[in-house]
Formats: sequence, C-alpha cells, structure tokens
Amino acid sequence: MSNPRVAIIGATGAVGRIALQILEERGFAMDSLRLTASHRSLGKAMTYKGEEIIIEATTPKLLAECDLAFVSANDDISLEIGVLGPQQGCVVIDDSGVWRMDPSVPLVVPEINADDVGGHKGLLAIPNCSTTPLAMTLAALGANNPVKRVIASTYQSVSGTGAAALAELNTQAAQVLAGEPITAEAYPHQIAFNVLPHIGSLKEDGYYSEEVKMRQETQKILHQPNIAISTTCVRVPVPICHSETVNIEFERPVSPVEARKLLAEFPGITVIDDPANSEYPMPINAAGTDATYVGRIRQDSSHPNGLVLWIVSDNLRKGAATNAIQIAEEIVKQRAWLR
Ligand code: A2P
Repeated sequence: MSNPRVAIIGATGAVGRIALQILEERGFAMDSLRLTASHRSLGKAMTYKGEEIIIEATTPKLLAECDLAFVSANDDISLEIGVLGPQQGCVVIDDSGVWRMDPSVPLVVPEINADDVGGHKGLLAIPNCSTTPLAMTLAALGANNPVKRVIASTYQSVSGTGAAALAELNTQAAQVLAGEPITAEAYPHQIAFNVLPHIGSLKEDGYYSEEVKMRQETQKILHQPNIAISTTCVRVPVPICHSETVNIEFERPVSPVEARKLLAEFPGITVIDDPANSEYPMPINAAGTDATYVGRIRQDSSHPNGLVLWIVSDNLRKGAATNAIQIAEEIVKQRAWLR
C-alpha cells in the first residue's frame, strides 16, 4: 500500500511550521510533501528531514497531486480549499473555524471521537485550540457521570492569533521597557503587560465568537448538545499555551481523588497536581509538548456535584498541528482517503 502524498497549506505560519516539525517527529510516512504559502513566500525554502522544500502556490493541480492537505492559513483560504481539495481528490484537514459546525464535516479529537473520521466526505476539521483541552477533560471525567454544566475562563496565548501577533508581543514588550510609543496591530489594544477579555467578533448575545466556538464545538465533539456551557475567553501576554479554569457540574458527586484517576487514565492527559509543593501545569513547561495538562483539581465549594480544575495545553501542537496529524494518522489507519 502506498503512503499519502501530503501538502501543508500555510506552511510558513505559526501552526504550519509546527506541523512540518511534527510530521518529522512522528515519522509520518508520506510519498511526497508539498508546502504552500502566500505569494510573499513563493520560492523560499523550508527544511524537512534535512532537505529543502520550495514553497509553492496553492493550485488545483497541486491539490490533485496530493491525498491529504493540512490547511492553516486564513478563513478565505479555508473556505476555498475546503471545497477545491475534495473536488481534486485531496482530503482536507482544516484548522479554521469556517467548517467546524457544518453537519457534514467531522470535528475530531482522536482521543474522543476517532470513529467520526470514517464518515468524512473529503473535509474534516480540528477544533479551536481552546476547545480541544476542555473537550478532552470533559470526556475523561464524564464517561460514567454525565456533565451537566461547565463554566470556563481561558488565558490564551498570542500565538493563537498567528505569527504576526507573536512578533508583536515581543516588539511591544521591548517598546514598553524602552519607554517608547506602542504599535498595536494584531489586537484592538496593547497586549504586552495587559490582558484582553476579547477574542473574535462580538455576537448579539454579548459573547465573542471564540466563546461561542468553545461551547458549540465541545457539544459537537462530545455528541452532547445539551451540556450547558458558558465561557469567557481572555488573551494574555503569553507566547505559547492556552490555560483554562473550569468549573464542572456533574449528575452525581465526584471526588478529586477519583477525578485525578480518571484524568490520568485518559490518553493524552497528564495530571500535575501537587499544589502544596507549588506543582501545577504552567505554559512555560507545557510549551513544545503534546499532552493536555490538568491540575488544581478540587471540590467546587459552590456545588456538591462540582469540581474545579486548571488546564494547560500547547495551542500550536495539541490545539492545532498535533491534533491535525493525529487525524491524518487515523485516516491512514482507516484507509479513509479518497483515492
Ligand atoms: P505567508 O507567510 O507567505 O504570509 P499565521 O497563522 O501565523 O498568520 O500564518 C498564516 C499562514 O497562511 C502563512 O503561512 C501565510 O503565508 C499563509 N497564507 C496567507 N495567504 C495565503 C494564500 N493566499 N495561500 C496560501 N497560504 C497563505
């Protein structure tokens, strides 16, 4: 059996670069690898397994010559390639928010709903980078004790906005420390030495779109549309890793001891929970790794059936590239590509 021919669309971006690295780390077997980006990057080279690959334009021909494409560029590209890729016989794994809630598009976290992969029609989506760690935590804890209600607040890193925002954080930090005027383009306000309770576009009900995504995507991945979820998403001046505080109400009480056990047994989750010794998940430790880290697990003092906990996960890896490549591995395992 031959291996898939693969493309990364948006290879020079914050997620695309990591996807390239993770394909190599995981030894993903491919017959060929093509890289595309905007016209600004055409002709430049990126390195895979010590060999240079020249960046190309994203054309129908290129898609026709690939079996799998990872797309992490922008919403317009995702809308276009989500249609064009399958038309050209190429299965698209999309990182944007534009396809996730389409009923015909599987939205997959392989540790939770790998079975949904087989139903694809040429296009699959990965969840928002703040959804994935929350959904994994709820899947681990809710298997035998249904989750009724979730209140989550996030602390999301700037790399979730892309490479330009990451550079802007560094620039602004230097500007602040030098007492110079601030240049702010990635966000409506300065992000260095600040926090912004604003991610995405404002909806009629007062939530921003990132908050709506977290709710709807979590319900879709878990196949539980009735879980009540309310989130507040906050951008913080952290380079990589999203953190979340989560209050979960279950049908029945669950002890922190039992919760730690369930979480530790769940694939992809690592428990770090020794608050007496100041040990809990932190972005500086989680960055560059694939686990979803959970700690500060305790009884919710406001509800007898409640738990409170703290989650940290690398938004570029498990929140994006790693999850996409795990889906690709699942497609290969199930021999579920189009040709
Ligand atoms: P480029 O680096 O040439 O601008 P990020 O999410 O970090 O902002 O990255 C966005 C990615 O999407 C980059 O790789 C960017 O390429 C790429 N991109 C932007 N426009 C296009 C396009 N028209 N076709 C393919 N890739 C694109």
